[in-house]
Amino acid sequence: MSRGDRRTVLITGASAGIGAALARVFAGHGWDLILTARREDPLRTLAAELSGMGAHATVIPEDLADPEAPRRLLAAIADCDLQVDGLVNNAGFSRTAGFLRTDPASHEAMIRVMLTAPVELARLFAPGMVERGHGRILNVASLAGQMPATGGDTLYGPIKSFLIKASQGLHLELRGTGVHVTALCPGYTLTEFHDVNGTRAEVSTAYPAWMWQTAEHVADVGYRAVETNRPKVTPGAMNNVLAGLAKHLPDAMALNMVGGHARRLKRI
Ligand SMILES: NC(=O)c1ccc[n+]([C@@H]2O[C@H](COP(=O)([O-])OP(=O)(O)OC[C@H]3O[C@@H](n4cnc5c(N)ncnc54)[C@H](OP(=O)(O)O)[C@@H]3O)[C@@H](O)[C@H]2O)c1
Repeated sequence: MSRGDRRTVLITGASAGIGAALARVFAGHGWDLILTARREDPLRTLAAELSGMGAHATVIPEDLADPEAPRRLLAAIADCDLQVDGLVNNAGFSRTAGFLRTDPASHEAMIRVMLTAPVELARLFAPGMVERGHGRILNVASLAGQMPATGGDTLYGPIKSFLIKASQGLHLELRGTGVHVTALCPGYTLTEFHDVNGTRAEVSTAYPAWMWQTAEHVADVGYRAVETNRPKVTPGAMNNVLAGLAKHLPDAMALNMVGGHARRLKRI
């Protein structure tokens, strides 16, 4: 149950990057929080920081690659007597070694963390939001989901495209219920993401500083978009130009464009 008239948001992947930045933005707007990711220590450090802002933050560590994780989260949240008024599906990572060189278990984990878990969590928590006539679902997708297919990180773009389309569909279905649904589509963002996938050196050389956004800016844009119920938002003028180009270029030309990107990153 929310404390007084305060609402509670569940944020996945809150131990770093965009998820931690979104936690600070939601807390700054008066929300309480349920923070999840695999690493408990950074979640606890963030929870302490957020309590200094007057927010109540509950930490529930989970590995979303585990198929049982969404149901375990539901049970743990009920045990804490909390209600989920907002859901931020943010946890994610990429693998860039190429389809045939990537362990199938890693691909399965990508699909579970960034596709299956967001769908299941929305299915578990959206009914309560609709019943109460208020809710927020923010799905952190990517500019990559609006771009043509890429080699190297073969499944990442399609997973994010799925998340964008699924968000837009749910946005339409829930219009008028008080539940807002938004896909947030960041471009290059300064987080641990490129350290985790091992491409920090390549992307820093290939892409100039002006193409990078901070997690704080991305989180702020995402929060405002879901509050105003925009079905999709892409932070940054240049990212919007790229998304627009990708939509209007013929397929062959667009594939050549991103083929150049993959070659620059030595992925194909
Ligand atoms: N950075 C970019 O350039 C960029 C651009 C577009 C979109 N995005 C998207 O933004 C989202 C956040 O990424 P980020 O940039 O903030 O990266 P990040 O700093 O690496 O953070 C990723 C978060 O996901 C969590 N996570 C990863 N695997 C998980 C698992 N199996 N179970 C539970 N949590 C897991 C991590 O926590 P633990 O390691 O503690 O589990 C961490 O909190 C992702 O969906 C990513 O695809 C990022």
